[in-house]
Amino acid sequence: MRKNILIIGACGQIGNELTLALRHRYGNERVIASDIREGSENLMDSGPFELLDATNHDALEEVVAHYEIDEVYLMAAMLSATAEKFPMRAWNLNMGSLFHVLNLAKEKKINKVFWPSSIAVFGSTTQKEGAPQSTMMEPNTVYGISKLAGERWCAYYYEKYGVDVRSVRYPGLISWKTLPGGGTTDYAVEIYHRALADKKYTCFLKEDTRLPMMFMDDAIRATMELMDCNPKNLHIHSSYNLSAMSLCPREIASNIQKYIRDFEVVYRPDFRQTIADSWPSSIDDFQARNDWGWKPEFDMERTTKEMLAHLKNPTNK
Ligand SMILES: NC(=O)c1ccc[n+]([C@@H]2O[C@H](COP(=O)([O-])OP(=O)(O)OC[C@H]3O[C@@H](n4cnc5c(N)ncnc54)[C@H](O)[C@@H]3O)[C@@H](O)[C@H]2O)c1
Repeated sequence: MRKNILIIGACGQIGNELTLALRHRYGNERVIASDIREGSENLMDSGPFELLDATNHDALEEVVAHYEIDEVYLMAAMLSATAEKFPMRAWNLNMGSLFHVLNLAKEKKINKVFWPSSIAVFGSTTQKEGAPQSTMMEPNTVYGISKLAGERWCAYYYEKYGVDVRSVRYPGLISWKTLPGGGTTDYAVEIYHRALADKKYTCFLKEDTRLPMMFMDDAIRATMELMDCNPKNLHIHSSYNLSAMSLCPREIASNIQKYIRDFEVVYRPDFRQTIADSWPSSIDDFQARNDWGWKPEFDMERTTKEMLAHLKNPTNK
């Protein structure tokens, strides 16, 4: 199908890989990357790029009209750890950009929206193991509050205005192409970089802090499969639970030690420990498996092999 796609926040950890995957599938010229900063060489060279601030409604509307955009993937956000330092800026970015995009869809200027939520929507009153799709949700971070509010607005725009907006609650994402952007699970990427660079890592979470995680290839495939799905099969219009692995720093470290024997990790928890402690350890993604056939492909062994192999030979970023 011929369609034009806009990625907002395309230079971040997910946006970079998502843009490249969508360009591979739909053609470079049809996938417009945008961000407030320039991205990787591969991203900048492979197709159109616009400098665009997602909180600027008029600029966004202009880009949508200029490229005759059909679908928007809104990846711009302030993540959990950074948002605790700048609460109002985080709220304004995370909510303002979502409203701009939802309103463009409501006005029929675009047809379909992808907006990511996060496991941060859960809080300390949510059950720790196998957090269900619908459950007690009392997030106590600025980021989590903005994601939960965003989910409710997505469901509202679907119900009241028929907006086709789709969403997943991403777990912590592990990737080698782009560094993470200020989240509580960033350690799970940094640990591989430090293991290869100097065989030492100081982890900002306790060794036994278990959190839901996923390798980036699975996250990109989940996103594209959800966007491809027949809308009749979708029963969740807020955001789908999405799961692959449940990992703690000690497990990742000992997995890496299979390849780098003298790798050492020191644990020095900081303010991010409190955020991590408020999130579930694992997620029940029955609804995603049931509605659109979601199935992860990467476990920890495979993730570690991919991370170490690609970080040793960082080609094709
Ligand atoms: N990475 C994860 O582990 C994870 C987990 C759960 C949810 N998410 C969600 O997925 C989305 C993308 O996350 P990410 O990890 O790629 O984040 P990131 O921080 O790596 O990237 C975000 C991008 O948005 C850009 N940006 C910031 N302000 C902007 C603005 N005003 N206008 C346009 N662009 C702006 C940044 O320059 C950056 O390139 C976010 O909504 C995030 O909350 C990510």
